[in-house]
Amino acid sequence: MLGFRRNAQGAACLGRSTVRELLASAGTSTPAYLYDLDAIRKTAEDLETALGPEPHLAAYAMKANSAGTILRTLRAAGLGADVVSGGELALALASGFSADQILMSGVAKSDAELDQAIGAGIFAIQVESVEEIERVAARARALGRRARVSIRVNPDVAIDSHEKISTGHKYAKFGVPLADMPRAFASIDREPELLAGVGISVHIGSMMTKPEPYQRAARCVAELARARRESSTTLEYVDFGGGIGIDYGGAPAEPLAAFARAARQVMRELGVADLKLVMEPGRSLVGPHGILAANVIGTKQTATGRFLLLDAGMNDLVRPAMYGANHRVEPADWEPGPGDWRVVGPVCESSDDFGTHAIGERAPELVVIRDAGAYAFTMASEYNARPLPAELFVSDGQIVSVSASPGVTSWVERRLKA
Ligand code: LLP
Repeated sequence: MLGFRRNAQGAACLGRSTVRELLASAGTSTPAYLYDLDAIRKTAEDLETALGPEPHLAAYAMKANSAGTILRTLRAAGLGADVVSGGELALALASGFSADQILMSGVAKSDAELDQAIGAGIFAIQVESVEEIERVAARARALGRRARVSIRVNPDVAIDSHEKISTGHKYAKFGVPLADMPRAFASIDREPELLAGVGISVHIGSMMTKPEPYQRAARCVAELARARRESSTTLEYVDFGGGIGIDYGGAPAEPLAAFARAARQVMRELGVADLKLVMEPGRSLVGPHGILAANVIGTKQTATGRFLLLDAGMNDLVRPAMYGANHRVEPADWEPGPGDWRVVGPVCESSDDFGTHAIGERAPELVVIRDAGAYAFTMASEYNARPLPAELFVSDGQIVSVSASPGVTSWVERRLKA
C-alpha cells in the first residue's frame, strides 16, 4: 500500500493510514504537507534497477523538495544530488551525500558558490557559458585546485510543456548554444591544470510525458561526447538532465524508469555506452508522493457560482497561480463526485485560485491537494504574513518525522527587526 490511495470507505490515505488519522497523530494544524517516504523510496529503487549495473549517477534535483528526511531517503537508495545554490550544496553535504555524488547546476553561480563547490571537490560543476568556464578557471587558480566541469549544451530542442518550464530552446538563458560548443571545449583545453572537462550535459525543461524529446536531446549530447572523446582523455560522463513529467490527473506520463531505459538505448546507439550515465530527475521522484492537506474555512455563494474557501493558498502552493497548473483538490473523507466547487485560498490575489473541482454536493471539512510533493513546499512563501506550512513524513502508515510550521510569531519577530 504505497502512496496516495482511497480506503474501502473512500477516505484519502497515504499508505495504510487516513490523512485525518495522520494529521491527528502529528497534532498539527493545516495547511500541512504529507509525504509518503515508502513510495519515494520505491520510485528511487525502480530507477536504480532500470539504470542497471553499468556506471551511473541519478542526481536528484533537490530544488523539487529539499526536506532532510527526503534527501536521506534518496541518498540511502543510492542517489546523488543535483544542487543549484550554495544553500543546496551545504544541505546536500550535511544530509550525507558525498562530494563525488553532487553536481552543481545553475546559470548564474556566484564566486562564493563556485569556491564552495571547488573547495568541496564535487563531482562536477555544470557550466553554462564560455564566460563561466573562464570564471571557474580563475576561482580554481585562486584556490590552488583543479575543478571538474561539465558543459551544459543548449540543443535548441522544444518540448510540449509550459513555456515557463521549457529551457532547451534557443531563446532560453540556459546552456551553451550548440554552435559555441567547440569554443567552450577549447577554453577548457587551454587550462588543463585548472579544469578537467569530465562531462557534457543537457536539460531541456520540465514535464516531458514521453521520452522522445528527452531522447532527441540525449542524442545531441551523445554525439558531442563521441566526437569529444577523440581529442579528450578526461571525458567521463554524459548527463541527460531531468524533466520527466508526472500525471497530474490530465494525461498519463511514462514512468521515470522508462526514461532511464531510453537513455541507455541512446548511449548504445551512439557508441558511448561505456561512459557514465547521469540523470537529474526531480519532480518524478517526489511529485506524486506528497499532498497538501487544507481545512475548509467556509463556503461562499455568488451569482456566478459557489466557492470553497481553504486555509491553504498560493503562498503554500504557487504552481496553479504561477503556471496555471492543475492540482486535483479532493475531499479527504469521501471520493470526489458530482458537485463542482471553485476552490480558492485566503490570499488577497485573484490568482489565489486552485480551479474548479468535483467535490460533491456537501462542502467537506478537510481537503487534499494532490501531487504536491515537488515544487510545492520549496516554492512556498510567507506572503500575507502566512507562515510556512508544516511537513509530515509518513512511512508504513506512521508519522516518522514532523517539521513544524514556524508559526506567525516567528514572522512578526523577524519583520520587527527588519
Ligand atoms: N536539472 C536542471 C538543471 C534543472 O533546472 C531542473 C529543474 C531539473 C534538473 C529537474 O527537473 P524535473 O525532473 O524536476 O522536471 N517550478 C517548476 C519546475 C521548474 C524546474 C526547474 N528545473 C514547476 O513547478 O513545474
